[in-house]
Amino acid sequence: MDLAYASFQRAFLKETGLDLTSYKQKQMQRRIDQWMSRHGLKSYNDLIKLLQQDGDKREEFLGYLTINTSQFFRDQKVFDNINTLILPQWKKQGLTPRVWSAGTSIGAEAYTMAILLQEAKLNYSILATDIDEGALQQARSGVYRENQLQGVPPHILGVYFTKEGEGYRVKESLQRGITFRRQNLLEDPFGRSFDMILCRNVFIYFTWETQERLLQDFARALRREGYFISGSAEQMTDPAKYGLKRIAHCIYKLEN
Ligand SMILES: C[S@@+](CC[C@H](N)C(=O)[O-])C[C@H]1O[C@@H](n2cnc3c(N)ncnc32)[C@H](O)[C@@H]1O
Repeated sequence: MDLAYASFQRAFLKETGLDLTSYKQKQMQRRIDQWMSRHGLKSYNDLIKLLQQDGDKREEFLGYLTINTSQFFRDQKVFDNINTLILPQWKKQGLTPRVWSAGTSIGAEAYTMAILLQEAKLNYSILATDIDEGALQQARSGVYRENQLQGVPPHILGVYFTKEGEGYRVKESLQRGITFRRQNLLEDPFGRSFDMILCRNVFIYFTWETQERLLQDFARALRREGYFISGSAEQMTDPAKYGLKRIAHCIYKLEN
């Protein structure tokens, strides 16, 4: 391990609370170097100094580093499967599901779930968390650019959004069932008894050890027969290790 990077990791952890040793090193270093050269910074020390002096730059850097791109109905097949395989079952059981969108970024994933649940006429509560305060701000505001809404079917756009400037705003009825909260998946405690946890396109950035630890924690945070939803690049090779069973593309059920 490169010593300068190791000492940067320590200073960064102290400054931001984010432990970079849990993230894949090559990928992180590449992104950090890109950001430094874009901002004319010559050393990790210069970067730390800038992060200490400028709160806006600090937020911008954190957002850049943790890659918060997202969009509504991302990976449509997954939401189609949730809609046909899971929601009818919940409806039959008369369940008010507790859903957690972990690493929700700008909230598109949480709102997509809220749309599906409302369409299925289910009551629900959704917790949506992320480490990136900037992304959460957009999530809370509920205002999106057109390119973030590409996956939204036109009739859904008409029902759940209103046009605002160049983009759209989600209707208040959609915001009501969702709590957005800052949470660091590597540090902060997890809730319990969720009926579904979505953690998609977050894992890929973590080391294998961290991925494994988090999967154990997620499985513990599910109620029995609850569902874990992964990103398509994050499908598990051995779900049984966590008590999970793969039931469809990116969908796992807690069995024991
Ligand atoms: C690419 S986005 C994925 C958003 C959404 N889940 C999706 O699939 O469209 C990855 C998100 O993970 C968040 N993230 C990265 N590290 C995190 C951590 N340690 N704790 C919580 N969230 C984290 C980032 O801030 C970012 O918003």
